[in-house]
Amino acid sequence: MSLNDTKFGEELCKTFWDCINGSIHSGSGNYRVGVDLGTANVVTAVVDGDDNPVAGRIKRAEVVRDGIVVNFVEARNIVESMLQELRQDLGADLEYGACAVPPGTREGDFRAVRYVVESAGLQVSDVFEEPVAATKVLGMEDQVIVDIGGGTTGISIVKSGQVIYTADEPTGGVHFTLVIAGNYGIDIDEAEEMKLNAVNHRRLLPIVKPVMEKVATIIHEHIMGHGVEKICLVGGTSSFEGLKDVVEQITGIPVYVPEHCILVTPLGIALSCRRGGFK
Ligand SMILES: Nc1ncnc2c1ncn2[C@@H]1O[C@H](COP(=O)(O)OP(=O)(O)OP(=O)(O)O)[C@@H](O)[C@H]1O
Ligand SMILES: [Mg+2]
Repeated sequence: MSLNDTKFGEELCKTFWDCINGSIHSGSGNYRVGVDLGTANVVTAVVDGDDNPVAGRIKRAEVVRDGIVVNFVEARNIVESMLQELRQDLGADLEYGACAVPPGTREGDFRAVRYVVESAGLQVSDVFEEPVAATKVLGMEDQVIVDIGGGTTGISIVKSGQVIYTADEPTGGVHFTLVIAGNYGIDIDEAEEMKLNAVNHRRLLPIVKPVMEKVATIIHEHIMGHGVEKICLVGGTSSFEGLKDVVEQITGIPVYVPEHCILVTPLGIALSCRRGGFK
């Protein structure tokens, strides 16, 4: 099996999911770390020298907004304590890592993300563009990746490992939550809990469908004329049942959603981190 295999990507994400849920293996050492500072979640992934996920953490946090660090101290503290826990889990030091930013992030913001991770105690070998990191898990360097995360929908056309077209539009998971809160007259936290439980998705579908249609229309407008044959959805919001169908209906293009779509980018960051012969 190789990394250029979608099924293998799914398996990697499943293994990483199990790691986050407590199944730690020390693997073969030579660890690399990927840190994804998202608008809704901070995710840290550790892979070993054979590219196997070995440990990880995910935490809800509002410390970065669309690649811009809005709470430096808290962001650093979260990453630092995740790294401490992960070192304990693995009984080993973690020295090297990488992070990522949405494509099009300005250089100053780019640097702030790096500083967060460096001040949390990692040597940062690379800062990647998020969709480029995601291709490492999805296989094939040519991909249309739509990342529907907390605040935005990011559309990236990646060819031969380079982002050749990118756009980021301000509709994401938070808009789903707002519509649910408004519909039921409940607060945001309650609406978020309701949304995160997949059991509720079918009943919530008519309520959130206009937001899904907006996301799908955004995707359609950006990819029109690019000869796109397949769309891959990543990011937590892509888990919403029914979104895939709405995007297929509006774009007329087949859509693929990896099972653990929330983990694709963080795992891709760790896998993309350059090897340095370190331990
Ligand atoms: N099972 C689920 N069903 C529906 N929505 C979900 C699910 N899991 C997570 N989400 C939503 O996904 C969003 C977080 O996704 P993700 O972690 O990919 O975002 P992020 O990387 O933090 O944000 P961004 O990429 O926009 O900076 C949140 O809005 C959350 O409510
Ligand atoms: Mg993200």
